[in-house]
Amino acid sequence: MAAAAAKIAPSMLSSDFSNLATEAQRMLDCGADWLHMDIMCSHFVPNLTIGAPVIESLRKHTKAYLDCHLMVTNPLDYVESFGKAGASGFTFHIEAARENWNELIQKIKAKGMKPGVSLKPGTPIEEVYPLVEGENHVDLVLVMTVEPGFGGQKFMPEMMDKVRRLRQKYPSLDIEVDGGLGPSTIDAAASAGANCIVAGSSVFGAPEPAQVISLMRNRVEGVKAAW
Ligand code: DX5
Ligand code: ZN
Repeated sequence: MAAAAAKIAPSMLSSDFSNLATEAQRMLDCGADWLHMDIMCSHFVPNLTIGAPVIESLRKHTKAYLDCHLMVTNPLDYVESFGKAGASGFTFHIEAARENWNELIQKIKAKGMKPGVSLKPGTPIEEVYPLVEGENHVDLVLVMTVEPGFGGQKFMPEMMDKVRRLRQKYPSLDIEVDGGLGPSTIDAAASAGANCIVAGSSVFGAPEPAQVISLMRNRVEGVKAAW
């Protein structure tokens, strides 16, 4: 099976939200494949960000793949509105969907979005295997490499064991990592088998975001033959 292609997804959480459309276009011009959108409710994480109305506004300005990461307690409640708003990917947290992930995946697909599942650092990787293997399966697994809630935290290298085990089991799965990714941590993530790389502060904080994006893409493409 063909290895999954590198996808670099700047996290718009680190952008200037007052100029979201311009920031999104700037990232695409710098070579971003996806735009990562962090949706947080303050029950699931100690922070509050954006909802479907913002996705809907942004969608009017771009055709880009909007990779929505929902850090919310009731993801099922958001499927309809995110589908209508024009989200491309809908990645929910397993910790918030242990009772209803099957129904959730079906509804996400019915609304024309790509389902993904994410897990917090403390959640064992085995918990997501049934979601990758089921008849209604997710297209992406997002392994959090920080505690969700805020940008600018330190990458947790011990999460790479989860990525390695997933990659061994699923050679062509989209495996995403999120939190603390940048030039100094990309090699650990890429060699473990991650192909979708979310990066906020390292990209937005760089004088030349295009260089950081291309460096990360090259590192993933360079090691994937060895997965
Ligand atoms: C954290 C978010 C991340 C965050 C990453 O909960 O899911 O997407 O914005 O930011 P950096 O790359 O700065 O760690
Ligand atoms: Zn995220």
